[in-house]
Amino acid sequence: MTAQLGVLFATVAVIVFSAVGFYLYQALALQLQDRDDVDLVERMLQIRHLLEETSTTESIRLDPHRFLDAVDLRRGLLLVIEDSSGRALVHNTAERRFAQGGFVIPADAVPSTADTRPGALADGANLRVISASGRIGAGDQLVRVSLARTADERLAVLRAYRLKVWAAAIAGAVLTAALGYLLARHGLSRVKALAGQARQVTAHNLEMRLDADAAPAELRLLADSFNAVLDRLQSSFNNLSQFADDLAHDLRTPLNNLMIQTEVAFSQPRESEEYQRLLSSNYEEFGRLARMVESMLFLARADHDQIALSTERLDAAEQLAVIAEYFEGVASEANVSFEINATGVVWADANLLRRAVNNLVANAVRYTPAGGVIGLEAVQGAEGVTISVANPGAGIGAEHLPRLFDRFYRSDASRSSESSSAGLGLAIVKSIMALHGGMASATSERHGMTRFSLFFPTVRA
Ligand SMILES: Nc1ncnc2c1ncn2[C@@H]1O[C@H](COP(=O)(O)OP(=O)(O)O)[C@@H](O)[C@H]1O
Ligand SMILES: [Mg+2]
Repeated sequence: MTAQLGVLFATVAVIVFSAVGFYLYQALALQLQDRDDVDLVERMLQIRHLLEETSTTESIRLDPHRFLDAVDLRRGLLLVIEDSSGRALVHNTAERRFAQGGFVIPADAVPSTADTRPGALADGANLRVISASGRIGAGDQLVRVSLARTADERLAVLRAYRLKVWAAAIAGAVLTAALGYLLARHGLSRVKALAGQARQVTAHNLEMRLDADAAPAELRLLADSFNAVLDRLQSSFNNLSQFADDLAHDLRTPLNNLMIQTEVAFSQPRESEEYQRLLSSNYEEFGRLARMVESMLFLARADHDQIALSTERLDAAEQLAVIAEYFEGVASEANVSFEINATGVVWADANLLRRAVNNLVANAVRYTPAGGVIGLEAVQGAEGVTISVANPGAGIGAEHLPRLFDRFYRSDASRSSESSSAGLGLAIVKSIMALHGGMASATSERHGMTRFSLFFPTVRA
């Protein structure tokens, strides 16, 4: 880019210098021609004056030097004076062609530069010509005076000037290209510096940021955007590595249990009931692992939009009644009961709706003290239906609420070793709500009600 800018600068410089040079050259050419014309007119006036001081054509012919002195052949001035019959009285050149034809200024008219005209010599050289009638003495006798100047001198000046213009244009272009290159390099050095900083960002130092304040205004936007990308990457990356950590940690516990139990069983011969007990215990652990892997797969598929929804109109009260019935056994075992209070129509995938609410109810049953009543509610709003599961209990600390729906997040460490708790239930609820374009939220009071709410927006055709 730097070299490209340099070349661009040079091209522009050549064009500009050439244009200016061409203009100046034309102006000079015109001015030089003007000067020659003025000179011709002045000399014509001088010769007329000399003619007035003469008495006869014969005296002119016999003494031509007075007239020839008025012109200088070496400076390219040509003179021919003819009498009325066309005989040359005075001439300093054999060339007579320029003296023939063309406009002749009358004897009583004053010559001016407007009376000059172009002419040419036999060899093609350019001339400026002026012709005028002149009165001899005070009488009526007229002669014709033709004066010309070759362009040699003028052309020599112009030739020299042209060379200078070309030299200046080339030197100017080279200089501009060099300066342009330096300027571009200086300007781009800031870009290079930013690129250098960007290059240092790796997975191990995602917390690094480009120094946007040090960047010039035009690049600050780019640096800020890049930093924003890094922010998002860092947060995703942190989530991902946290997730991997948690996953490894949560798989380790059931696997260790399986290994230890099996090793102990192997250490000596056992009765067949003992093997049976081991197998049934292992079966439980396998079940936990399988459920966890299934949940992970569900979350991954939901993340990648690989879950197809078959959304339908569902009666909220009906759905909650089915769920309450499903949990009846577990609830009576825990000595808790359900109270349904629901109206409204939910637009949802029946299986996923049940899965989401099941997760909430399973939690509620686990955290409700004996004798407690779990509320299953549905409220129809203008935009959709909110289904909520509310239970009394110790409640969830406010510091946990924002992270409750994160994968593997558990607010009470004491329960985390329980076989049924993997901390994925609410993450799945959140995924399901995202699939429906809805939202999951939670509120909790210490030693009061804990309420999880699911908002399902109404689907309009
Ligand atoms: N109704 C509730 N009352 C108190 N705490 C709850 C309730 N529901 C969920 N939690 C807290 O939220 C955490 C995450 O729940 P969840 O994702 O379902 O995981 P899990 O049930 O496997 O522990 C639970 O470990 C628990 O600490
Ligand atoms: Mg749960």
